[in-house]
Amino acid sequence: MTARHFLSLMDCSQSELVSLIKRGVELKALHRQGAIYEPLKNRVLGMIFEKASTRTRVSFEAGMIQLGGQAIFLSPRDTQLGRGEPIEDSARVLSSMVDAVMIRTFAHAELQTFAAHSKVPVINGLTDDLHPCQLLADMQTYLEHRGSIQGKTVAWIGDGNNMCNTFIQAAVQFDFNLRIACPEGFEPDQQFLDQAGDRVMLTRDPREAAAGAHLINTDVWASMGQEDEAESRLKRFAPFQVTPATLDLADESVLFMHCLPAHRGEEVSTELMDDPRSVVWDQAENRLHAQKALVEFLLVD
Ligand code: CP
Ligand code: NVA
Repeated sequence: MTARHFLSLMDCSQSELVSLIKRGVELKALHRQGAIYEPLKNRVLGMIFEKASTRTRVSFEAGMIQLGGQAIFLSPRDTQLGRGEPIEDSARVLSSMVDAVMIRTFAHAELQTFAAHSKVPVINGLTDDLHPCQLLADMQTYLEHRGSIQGKTVAWIGDGNNMCNTFIQAAVQFDFNLRIACPEGFEPDQQFLDQAGDRVMLTRDPREAAAGAHLINTDVWASMGQEDEAESRLKRFAPFQVTPATLDLADESVLFMHCLPAHRGEEVSTELMDDPRSVVWDQAENRLHAQKALVEFLLVD
């Protein structure tokens, strides 16, 4: 199959990613001006969600409508996917009817299997391993507030989860240094660390990760699918809560990001969410603009 997929940040070149983020800024300005821009008239995005979502669903759906197209929400509960129809068969059928497919699922391999049998572009809307659409919005947000992230120092404090893995790939693609502070046993996947080499540093000390950083990120301590571990992780992760005091250790230009949803009083203190250094609401809004840039890139010749 020859379709261009977006399963990870590594599916684009560095310059394509920078162009995508800049295009997100442009599309945001057009949207704010009330301009009508409908290059995707009659184009359809199928969206398969095997996990819950607020931002990803609404941003793709609203984005497709704004670009003149449509999005179809597909829940495995209501489709044959949920009754065991093979992913390969579903991919062949769906991709004969829609122009692109976005998938949020558990195992990354399922996304890859779907993509391998799809005639149309497949977009990763989050897997257990990666969440590349979120990073497009995050990189757009950094650009808007502080300019290029190239050469900057970024801290990840908390679980070595799908967002952390994606930040590692972002460090490679956007050329920044990443310090990860996580409890022992909760490290990101070694395959991603191996990809990044010495631009990623691992520590057990959140203060060491935060010192002098230009951007500090965190995420929930128990991701979707890990609900059973949520209680037991609380104690283990308590020293990794990000607070205004954590940001005080960083560079004076530091920004705080969280992909949301947030658990106030766990990975992030209540007061930090609305601290002047927090850009979490801009990140959320930029999901819309960055993904409009992505579907335009994948679907408009
Ligand atoms: N950040 C993010 O992907 O949010 P949703 O789970 O609401 O889509
Ligand atoms: N790590 C979180 C991100 C949610 C957007 C999860 O996978 O649940």
